[in-house]
Amino acid sequence: MIKDYKVEITENRFISGITWLLKFKNKEIAEKAKPAHFVMVRPTSEHQYDPMMRRAFAIADVVDDEIWIYYDVYGRGTKTLTEKKVGDEIEVLAPLGKNLFPENFDYYLLVGGGIGFAGLSYLMKKLREKNKPFKAIYGVRRKEQLSMLDWIKENDFENNVIIYTEDGSYGKKGLVTRDLKELALENENTAIFTCGPHGMMKAVDKIAKEIKVPCYASLESKMACGFGICIGCVIKDVEKDSYVRVCYEGPVFDTYKIEL
Ligand SMILES: Cc1cc2nc3c(=O)[nH]c(=O)nc-3n(C[C@H](O)[C@H](O)[C@H](O)COP(=O)(O)OP(=O)(O)OC[C@H]3O[C@@H](n4cnc5c(N)ncnc54)[C@H](O)[C@@H]3O)c2cc1C
Ligand code: FES
Repeated sequence: MIKDYKVEITENRFISGITWLLKFKNKEIAEKAKPAHFVMVRPTSEHQYDPMMRRAFAIADVVDDEIWIYYDVYGRGTKTLTEKKVGDEIEVLAPLGKNLFPENFDYYLLVGGGIGFAGLSYLMKKLREKNKPFKAIYGVRRKEQLSMLDWIKENDFENNVIIYTEDGSYGKKGLVTRDLKELALENENTAIFTCGPHGMMKAVDKIAKEIKVPCYASLESKMACGFGICIGCVIKDVEKDSYVRVCYEGPVFDTYKIEL
């Protein structure tokens, strides 16, 4: 069940590029959190209503009772969030999302673009816990945007992750799709799980369909409520010929069944 929690910030600091890392403690959220779950954070304090809407963020990691969120600073909501200090309280709706990543495959190829990698990082931990083989592709434009590089190193995932930068300043030069076909065909019963900019996910989906590999996308549409009542985040379900809410029926969708 979704709950509105008041949580205390334990860390909120700049990482690199435009990315910040926010941590807060809550035992209940930590126990319930699963990969692809997300939270809606109210950026303002009590009795302040500007900006009013909460902002959605993926649960990037859970360490003991601490929830980790990596956030890119774009507009007023995320700028307001950077002003929060350790010890400040924030209101968080969590955990959100019903349809999460399926677990019935033999090999997992994760494809994360930019901050979208934070939508896959907790899944990496869970796959390792369950001894499921996987590789993760992490792509950004340039080195400074690799905001989860320390997380990858600290969690000993270096052998699982292949990094691509568009300008070649770190890892392999090119887009996340550069070697995707070959990597997706290396193992039997592979599924691609992707999260990132819309254009990138469309490109990943196109390749998956060309080589007939299952593909699941964790969508990050603009959200007002985050729990199904405003109908602001709908996408077309082509299989059912109707619309589904990303926040409520998602955020993970089989890309063969939706209009991405
Ligand atoms: C399920 C879900 C999970 C998400 N997880 C994460 C996450 O883990 N980390 C993260 O950083 N973001 C994540 N997002 C995106 C995040 O919610 C938005 O980036 C955030 O709400 C923007 O708020 P803001 O106050 O910065 O910008 P706003 O004030 O809402 O917008 C200001 C300006 O920035 C532009 N803008 C807003 N967001 C983006 C964007 N993402 N890319 C480019 N331009 C943008 C707007 O079009 C507008 O022009 C997620 C979204 C969803 C739905
Ligand atoms: S954000 Fe309100 S229905 Fe999805």
